[in-house]
Amino acid sequence: MPVRRQFPTGCFEAADVLNGRVEPNYQKVLTRLLAAHAIAERLTAEGYGRVYGFIDDPALTKIIEKNMAEERKHARLVYAALEELGVNESRADRSMLMVLKAPSFVAPRYFAEQAANELDLAMASISLDMTGLIMIGVNYKESSYAPHARAAEVILAEEEEHELFAANELRDAAERFGVDRVNAALREWLPRAVNFFGPPGSGFTFDCIRFGLKTRDNGELAELYLSLLERRVAQAGLQMPQLTPDYPHVLA
Ligand SMILES: [Fe+2]
Ligand SMILES: [Fe+2]
Repeated sequence: MPVRRQFPTGCFEAADVLNGRVEPNYQKVLTRLLAAHAIAERLTAEGYGRVYGFIDDPALTKIIEKNMAEERKHARLVYAALEELGVNESRADRSMLMVLKAPSFVAPRYFAEQAANELDLAMASISLDMTGLIMIGVNYKESSYAPHARAAEVILAEEEEHELFAANELRDAAERFGVDRVNAALREWLPRAVNFFGPPGSGFTFDCIRFGLKTRDNGELAELYLSLLERRVAQAGLQMPQLTPDYPHVLA
């Protein structure tokens, strides 16, 4: 059964939530969602920071610097929205310790902790910037929580450029590293990238949709991503890996 959305876009400010004008579960679900968004932005910023050390092409270095600064800003915006709810950054991060071990966080963690070269940068960008653009553009921009909807608006403009960068990186990578190497990297990264959307049909997402904190289920977003990426991959003369249908996805 489709979930009925209870609250329209931007209908609550922090004060409404704190003054108990919304049911208590709203605050709980919202805090968890924001904490997950914040840490994903922070890990993406860290990933850009990590690859910065490996790249010596000055034109590319400049873009990495820009993206890193913007991802840091995105993280700050979302942590600020949490702060308004009385949750500081370290408490938000602590609440994510278990979530960080889930398949949905393998991609941002890999970028932040293990990315090692320009090919990883290209793959991380299609795995995080392209997915981020979809999550933020489809879900968070229409959040019933006004501070998140406002933050999403700012983030979205920059993520559109990051996504463009991702598309260029993919094409360049095929030319620079050869189709075989990039196809192998795609096989390695695609399961991580799709799993970043999280499990489909979860109770948490059901609550998010009901409260107007998301508009679509994770599974729908994952499908949208795969169809967009498929086009990009074909344009770059690469091969789209086949994945198993269920979350967490692995190579078929
Ligand atoms: Fe971002
Ligand atoms: Fe980004």
